[in-house]
Amino acid sequence: MTRNTITSTSRRTESQRSTSCPQNSSSEKIPRPLPKKRVATVQALSGTGALRVGLEFIRTFLSEQTPVYLPDPTWANHKNIIRRAGLSGMKSYRYFNKKTNGVDIDGMLEDLRQASAGSVVLLHGCAHNPTGSDPSPEEWQKVLEVVKAQNLIPFFDNAYQGFASGSLEQDAYSVQLFVEAGVDMLISQSYAKNMGMYSGRVGALSVVCATPEPVEAVRSQLKGIIRAMYSNPPVHGAKVAAKIMTRPRGICGVGEGTCHHVRQNPAHEGAAEGDFGEAGYAGNLGPHYVADWYVQFHRHFGQAGRLHSGEL
Ligand SMILES: Cc1ncc(COP(=O)(O)O)c(C=O)c1O
Repeated sequence: MTRNTITSTSRRTESQRSTSCPQNSSSEKIPRPLPKKRVATVQALSGTGALRVGLEFIRTFLSEQTPVYLPDPTWANHKNIIRRAGLSGMKSYRYFNKKTNGVDIDGMLEDLRQASAGSVVLLHGCAHNPTGSDPSPEEWQKVLEVVKAQNLIPFFDNAYQGFASGSLEQDAYSVQLFVEAGVDMLISQSYAKNMGMYSGRVGALSVVCATPEPVEAVRSQLKGIIRAMYSNPPVHGAKVAAKIMTRPRGICGVGEGTCHHVRQNPAHEGAAEGDFGEAGYAGNLGPHYVADWYVQFHRHFGQAGRLHSGEL
């Protein structure tokens, strides 16, 4: 699927970095919808299911050898999902700089410049798991330029929308930037965390096309893949999600609450500046602190210093 075939923080700004989340007022905007004519969306079994269906689509209509670039590090299950989808061309790009505890934007761009046309590049839309570090808006712009220059296919994994800044709209920045640029791309959307509906398995896969012509064909093929895998997804959670998502106050309260809780917690003081989301690397805590904090404060860090809000 090249553009022609379908039609084809670390550092954020000062206001985004504020320790208090945006107030959840009745004027909170619903994030801009994706452009209807250019997008084929199917309900999926949460974020994991959306990733799997998207990768099945890539394997079926591109090839098994399609290179899929993952950030290093990334959510551990990405590799399993890619392998089980039958894709053999897994590669990684540099993402995190341990010295600065932030996004290694130069390394990331350098690695993506080496990717061949038609390669898939998996990007965490916001609140990168496990580092909690996201590119700044200016850095996202640079990533987009490389994606366009190399004719890559971005696949956004949006598992924590609302958790980085507390605002659904603000956290959609990267995805909206790429959509507006008119590139072919995929988006997996999870509502498990931001709606607190983990066991509802509510999610969506969107294939955004550069032009409207292939949209119906893409939708029909996605339905075919789903039909052979599990016929159709359950409807109940999706109905709740649809109701919430189309109301002005939306789900901001959920993300805002968690985001606020994390930042109020003493453990966040050890985190790398600019870390966002449900998980993050506790930048300046070494392994001895991990053990120490467990005993003293019952803080359950991963061995690499990864902290998750669920563990607080
Ligand atoms: C980065 C990332 N993507 C996707 C998922 C999967 O989300 P879901 O629980 O909606 O399947 C997770 C879950 O932990 C995640 O961290």
